[in-house]
Amino acid sequence: MRKHIVAGNWKMNNDLPQTEALITELKAQQLTSDAKVMIAPTFTNLWPAFEALRQTNIEVIAQNMHFADHGAYTGEVSARMLKSIGISTVILGHSERRAYFNESDDLLAKKVDAALENKMDVIFCFGEELEDRKSGNHEHIVENQIKNALFHLEASQFKNIVLAYEPVWAIGTGETASPEQAQEMHAFIRQTLFDAYGEDVANATSILYGGSVKPNNAKEIFSKPDVDGGLIGGAALNAEDFFAIINAF
Ligand code: 13P
Repeated sequence: MRKHIVAGNWKMNNDLPQTEALITELKAQQLTSDAKVMIAPTFTNLWPAFEALRQTNIEVIAQNMHFADHGAYTGEVSARMLKSIGISTVILGHSERRAYFNESDDLLAKKVDAALENKMDVIFCFGEELEDRKSGNHEHIVENQIKNALFHLEASQFKNIVLAYEPVWAIGTGETASPEQAQEMHAFIRQTLFDAYGEDVANATSILYGGSVKPNNAKEIFSKPDVDGGLIGGAALNAEDFFAIINAF
């Protein structure tokens, strides 16, 4: 069976005291679902978060990384650095990285390779813009984003890849894709995996949905057969809301 995963992407929110306070609240919540729980604080708070969540069932993951191991890349952080503090999962390709930091499919392919070489797992994000959906081009856009950054991989490498479909028009807008829209796209993504890599990869790869997932819509979205979890932004900044979403499984 595919892993259920709910990951909280904190984005550029929470300084150190706020991180500590939210982690204390998260530790007080009850996990009643089978979902694997992850949180992605900012780089400066990864180590304190990792320390505070040792021996809990909450994994601390990174929001981004550079493709190089080390070198003259001012302001960047490598997979090796993340690994050295115990972080072994990274989010790559978030639409905010693509839009505000010009991250291209080619760059993301390099980052994916660097993560896998360093034995990290990747949550790979992609999703169409509103115009793409209005023009009926959304499947084509998503297919290309996945192919360009991932389809140079061997089938066996997909055991370290989680996909996260995040339609840009649903991120932070309060407008979520309907459960039917999410299911339709997730089924299309799984078919794309099937066509390229066959049944085993298609059936084993978790596909998360992200974009305005809240406690009041999580259950319906997660009930869809090809939705294996969620990537949660705003609602992950509140411990009760985040766990209400996780426990919707
Ligand atoms: P929101 O849940 O705030 O829409 O953000 C989704 C997201 O971008 C998670 O990576």
